[in-house]
Amino acid sequence: MSQLETPLFTGLLEHMKKNPVQFHIPGHKKGAGMDPEFRAFIGDNALAIDLINISPLDDLHHPKGMIKRAQELAAEAFGADYTFFSVQGTSGAIMTMVMSVAGPGDKIIVPRNVHKSVMSAIVFSGATPIFIHPEIDKELGISHGITPQAVEKALRQHPDAKGVLVINPTYFGIAGDLKKIVDIAHSYNVPVLVDEAHGVHIHFHEDLPLSAMQAGADMAATSVHKLGGSLTQSSILNVREGLVSAKHVQAILSMLTTTSTSYLLLASLDVARKQLATKGRELIDKAIRLADWTRRQINEIPYLYCVGEEILGTEATYDYDPTKLIISVKELGLTGHDVERWLRETYNIEVELSDLYNILCIITSGDTEREASLLVEALRRLSKQFSHQAEKGVKPKVLLPDIPALALTPRDAFYAETEVVPFHESAGRIIAEFVMVYPPGIPIFIPGEIITEENLKYIETNLAAGLPVQGPEDDTLQTLRVIKEYKPIR
Ligand SMILES: Cc1ncc(COP(=O)(O)O)c(C=O)c1O
Repeated sequence: MSQLETPLFTGLLEHMKKNPVQFHIPGHKKGAGMDPEFRAFIGDNALAIDLINISPLDDLHHPKGMIKRAQELAAEAFGADYTFFSVQGTSGAIMTMVMSVAGPGDKIIVPRNVHKSVMSAIVFSGATPIFIHPEIDKELGISHGITPQAVEKALRQHPDAKGVLVINPTYFGIAGDLKKIVDIAHSYNVPVLVDEAHGVHIHFHEDLPLSAMQAGADMAATSVHKLGGSLTQSSILNVREGLVSAKHVQAILSMLTTTSTSYLLLASLDVARKQLATKGRELIDKAIRLADWTRRQINEIPYLYCVGEEILGTEATYDYDPTKLIISVKELGLTGHDVERWLRETYNIEVELSDLYNILCIITSGDTEREASLLVEALRRLSKQFSHQAEKGVKPKVLLPDIPALALTPRDAFYAETEVVPFHESAGRIIAEFVMVYPPGIPIFIPGEIITEENLKYIETNLAAGLPVQGPEDDTLQTLRVIKEYKPIR
């Protein structure tokens, strides 16, 4: 089969052309039973392939036909032994990776700045996380990946770990030396699981960091929907057999997946794979050139800094993805969130994310000079408008959350007897819930950690800046749920 073929999408079109009389779900029956306004908006083509796993259309849970062929083409394109399609986002693929290597009491080595799906899987599986501190960039106020030395040290202390999880590249597009990390882990016979949520495209261009499969990793959860052109929520799980069994991975993925798998999502993975495999290099090249141009323009604007290749040179900043524009705004005396709001209100521009010190904009082949120029124009005006603040020279001090000590496994804490205490009286207690800023969804606290004053202050600073702090049951953050303490009775 050729990478130009799309067995799944083509199979759906052929089925649609036969125009079968449908006595099966979905009950909207090609749109006829649906709200007319939505039907007209979304279009009859999309509704005609919004189908279910009847036998001519194969079944994601036991693929034997067109889904199997589409997954095989994806495996070939990504250099994997097996590729599994996920309709549960990269979160579903990540949970599958973790749960297919680690069970109750097993150790898994993970960076502390992992996405919440990793921690959710650790709670579900009952595994014990061995945290590695990510490298912290004190200038930018962001964390990067983990270093080979840190992985070596963790494995020396915990050679019985069932896996090493690596985020590569990070949300901000920074990659560590993944090949070296893989070699180290494999020398201990430990599989490497890669959170490749922000790196579907890197496999298809030689100027981008090595992909998980190129580096020899055992599994990678790769967000096709984020940067690879498929519909939101569709993702893949790439597997190299040897230290992990593809059959076991498939069984776990199936346990975590809806039985009503969306064929719109699945078909979009099939066509995105075709585009990446056949035209990816050319499209990514265009995005890199546009991003480089934009970066140069931004770096001519006073008080703004857009990160480029000068960031490279440490073990944690071994390579980077230039299509990510990390724009540091702190010299303007504004938070990233202030700038996000200003761009929305003044220029109708939406950024990928903002934090206390930066905004992140992504450039893909879907962008043109028109959008890039508008961003540059907007940032020029922003700099001019707030230059009086910058001239006062009040640069905010970069604050980064400390990594709290883990007193209980996340699962034990999650299921323990708990009580609610006022936020300001919670320092020193063991937290029973997650607290994170989303995006990027990296936990400030995970269940089982000891609450520190410093991290409470970090949460307050984020809240005061208007950033979305999420996770606790009490979304006003007046209270936190902690492990119950029994005080002596007097
Ligand atoms: C680093 C990282 N991993 C995993 C995910 C989860 O991906 P998804 O939203 O496709 O479930 C995200 C989402 O933003 C992420 O940033």
